[in-house]
Amino acid sequence: MPQADTVFQSRSDGISAEGVRDQYADGKAAKVWEIFIGDKKSRTENYRNFLVEKLRDNGCKRILDVACGTGVDSIMLLEEGFEVVSIDASDKMLKYALKERWNRRKEVTFDKWIIEEANWLTLYDDIEHLIGDGFDAVMCLGNSFAHLLDNYGDQREHIQAISNFEKCVKPGGLLLIDHRNYDNIMDTGAAPAKSIYYNSSHTADIKTSVLYVASKPTLVTMDYVISTGRGDTSEFRLSYYPHKLAVFEDILRTIFKGHSAYEMYGDFKTMDKVANPAFYIHVVQKGK
Ligand SMILES: C[S@@+](CC[C@H](N)C(=O)[O-])C[C@H]1O[C@@H](n2cnc3c(N)ncnc32)[C@H](O)[C@@H]1O
Repeated sequence: MPQADTVFQSRSDGISAEGVRDQYADGKAAKVWEIFIGDKKSRTENYRNFLVEKLRDNGCKRILDVACGTGVDSIMLLEEGFEVVSIDASDKMLKYALKERWNRRKEVTFDKWIIEEANWLTLYDDIEHLIGDGFDAVMCLGNSFAHLLDNYGDQREHIQAISNFEKCVKPGGLLLIDHRNYDNIMDTGAAPAKSIYYNSSHTADIKTSVLYVASKPTLVTMDYVISTGRGDTSEFRLSYYPHKLAVFEDILRTIFKGHSAYEMYGDFKTMDKVANPAFYIHVVQKGK
């Protein structure tokens, strides 16, 4: 049993504690995800511009989205003309991506869109048949990576997952990965409700709890209340591992040893332009 689960329930009621944990397995968050993220067409311009520019500037064409969820980021890239392979561990989330693919199958890019269920911990084996010489870019965005908790207290699964991501990137290709500013959440005990990814006005409330095990921050739990309209609300709980910036950077640099470049952004801006960002975005270029 994971460390944190011995003392605290990290998921919504009814979600299995066994096997590889899918925090979305009850379908609650998946069902309201489209509402939660708001109008896709008006997704924060900063995000779209940052991502598309970064990929184009580096000549990236074939992208692996390892946390596609309902497919929002992947669809944004398909619409921009990229070739996309999308994976996620949650069939409840994937259901929405598959539905969109089917609805738009007459568009060539959507017809070629590959969507598969896979897990970061076994990613290389799960999708070996799709890797070829490696992807031009692998992305894990939207505060997704922090969903992987630290079941052994030594971050070995974080290292395993990022090593799998690295194996999927071709030499000279990019890994784009982000996490919330957990250093700040640890200091203040609260997460900013405003998202840099989504444009939604439907988030009624986010309650943040920080769990300490043996004086070490081990788990950040967010209880979301989403107003679905006509006075209705939907509630779900998601838990995150509170990545410390310095440790995260160190893990990336170690796994991508001999990397050609490493850049860090705060809320999609260069670090000199943002004092205390809500999110950190890391961009590592694999050595050639
Ligand atoms: C916050 S959602 C983000 C989805 C999408 N990128 C977005 O911005 O809407 C995080 C996604 O990561 C997926 N995920 C979490 N742990 C995973 C794992 N170990 N392997 C694969 N996917 C995982 C979840 O199923 C979920 O769909």
